[in-house]
Amino acid sequence: MPGMGHGRAKSLRAAALLAFVVLSILVSLLISSLQQFGARKTHFSTDAIPGDVEDSEPLRGALISQLQQRRREIIPLLLTHNHNDNDDGENRQPEEDLQSLDPMLDYSLWDEITLGSRKAHLDEMDCESLVDMRAVEVLGSGYTKVVVKVNLSGGQPVALKLVNEQGIDMGKCVEDFKDPKGCRELVSSKLQKEIVLLQRLKHPNVIKLRGHCAAGAGGQRGGGVTVILEQGNPLQMIQLLQSPWEDRFRVCLDLVRLLHFLSRSPLGSVALLDFQPRQFVTVSGALKLTDLDDASAAETPCRTDADCVLQFPHRNFTVPCSARGVCEGLNEKRNIYNAYRYFFTYLLPHQAPPGLTHLVDHIMNSTGDLKADINQTLEVFERILLLYKSGLHLDNLPASLTEDYTVMRGMGTSGSVEYRCWPSYSQQGCVLSVHSATEAAHICNSHSQCNSFSLTGQKTWTGRLLASFRSGFSHLVPDGVSEVYVKKINVPGNSMV
Ligand SMILES: Nc1ncnc2c1ncn2[C@@H]1O[C@H](COP(=O)(O)OP(=O)(O)O)[C@@H](O)[C@H]1O
Ligand SMILES: [Mg+2]
Repeated sequence: MPGMGHGRAKSLRAAALLAFVVLSILVSLLISSLQQFGARKTHFSTDAIPGDVEDSEPLRGALISQLQQRRREIIPLLLTHNHNDNDDGENRQPEEDLQSLDPMLDYSLWDEITLGSRKAHLDEMDCESLVDMRAVEVLGSGYTKVVVKVNLSGGQPVALKLVNEQGIDMGKCVEDFKDPKGCRELVSSKLQKEIVLLQRLKHPNVIKLRGHCAAGAGGQRGGGVTVILEQGNPLQMIQLLQSPWEDRFRVCLDLVRLLHFLSRSPLGSVALLDFQPRQFVTVSGALKLTDLDDASAAETPCRTDADCVLQFPHRNFTVPCSARGVCEGLNEKRNIYNAYRYFFTYLLPHQAPPGLTHLVDHIMNSTGDLKADINQTLEVFERILLLYKSGLHLDNLPASLTEDYTVMRGMGTSGSVEYRCWPSYSQQGCVLSVHSATEAAHICNSHSQCNSFSLTGQKTWTGRLLASFRSGFSHLVPDGVSEVYVKKINVPGNSMV
C-alpha cells in the first residue's frame, strides 16, 4: 500500500519537525535560564543596528534582561505540578516553587521536554500544517497580538495568533531598543506564555490550542511565534446587549464556570489581570477566554489585612491576610468583581424572566459587594439554569391557557402576517423561546397583535422551544413536525384563514 507508506513517512517527518520545534523553544528557554547563572551569551541578532554595535550594547543588554525576565515567568508555569493533586499544595506558594526549583531548573526542564507531558502534544498542528493555508481576514488585534482567520489546506478553519507588528507593545519596544528582531522575540515571549497557559488551563471555556509554529522553524518570520487556535467570533457587547436574555445569561454562566475553574486550576488560583470583554470570543454561542498572557497565579504576600486591598475605579475591598502571609482569595475576588462590572451589570438583570429575578438580584448584590465566593456564585447560576430549563419558574401559569387556542399538529403556516417584538430570535418576525405551549399562549395573550403562534421543534441552547408569534397567516402547510395554535375568539372576521 504505497499511500500508507507515504502517509507514515509524512507523519514521521511532521513528528520529527515538531520535535525539533518544541526542542528549539525549550532549548532556547534552557539557554536563557543558564544565562541567569552568569553566562552572558545570547542568540540575539548582533546586526540589528549596523555600525553601531558599541553604542547599542547597553540597549541590547536591557532588552536581553527583559527577555530573560519574561522567560523566568514562563518556566515555573512549565514546571508547576497540579496543586489539586497533592494535599500540601494548598500551603505552598508559587514563589516557593520558583525558588526551590531555580537551582535545578535546567535538569527539570530537560526531563519535562524529553520524558514528560510534551510527548502527548505530538498530535498538535505545527508549521507543516500551515503550508498552503489561505488567510481570509483579520479577526481582531490588541496591544500585543493580531489574529487572522485562516483556512488550512484541507479546508479546516483556524485562527492564527501572531505578534502585532503595528501594536503598542512592538512600537514601544522598537522605540526603546531599536532592535525589531529582538523586539519580535520579546513580544513573542507573550505568545509562548500563552501557549503554556493554554496547555495548562484546558477547559470548555478556554479557547482550544490546536498547535503552534515556533520561531526559526518552517520558515516563519524571524523571531516570531504563531499560535494555532480554534476559530471564534470576537465578543460584541453591543450585539449581545440586543440579544435575548437566554443568550446573555449563557455568556455570564460560562464566565462563572470559567472563573470557578480558574480559582482551583492546576496552577493554583489564577487572576485575569486584563479582564475585558475583548479578551473573550464565542464559539457556537459558548464563551471562551482567548487572551491569557495577563493571567497570573501569583499570590500577594501580606503582613496585615491592610496589605490586601483590591482597588477598582469606584470601589475598594479588603480581603484577609492569611496565617501563611498571603491575601486570602484575592485572585478569585478580583475576577468576580470584574465579572460583575464588565459582564453581569450589562447582561444579566435586563429582561430576566420574572420568576428568576429574585435569584438574579441576589447574584447582582452578592457579586457587586463581593459577599459570595465563586462556589456560591456558581451554585446560584446553576440553580437559575435548572429552573429555567425545567420551567419551574413558571409554576403559576395555568395549563388551561391553551384552551383558548385551536391546535393543528403536523402543520406549518405560509403567508404569515408578521409583527416585530423585542428581543426576537428573528429580524423579520417575533420569535421567542418558551418552555411549553402554555407559556407561548401566555405570551401571545400579552401581545395585542398576536392571533396565532407555531412551535417548530427548533430549540435553544437550554432546550427551550422556539415559538413564532404572528398576527395571521394565509395557509396551513402539512410539515409533519410543527404545531400551529390559533386563538379561538379571533378565528372569524379577521385576517385569519
Ligand atoms: N480564536 C480566536 N478567534 C477569533 N478571534 C480571536 C481569537 N483570539 C483572539 N481573537 C480576537 O483577536 C483580538 C486580539 O487577541 P488578544 O489575544 O486579545 O491580543 P492582545 O494580547 O494583543 O490583546 C481579541 O480581542 C479577539 O477579538
Ligand atoms: Mg487582548
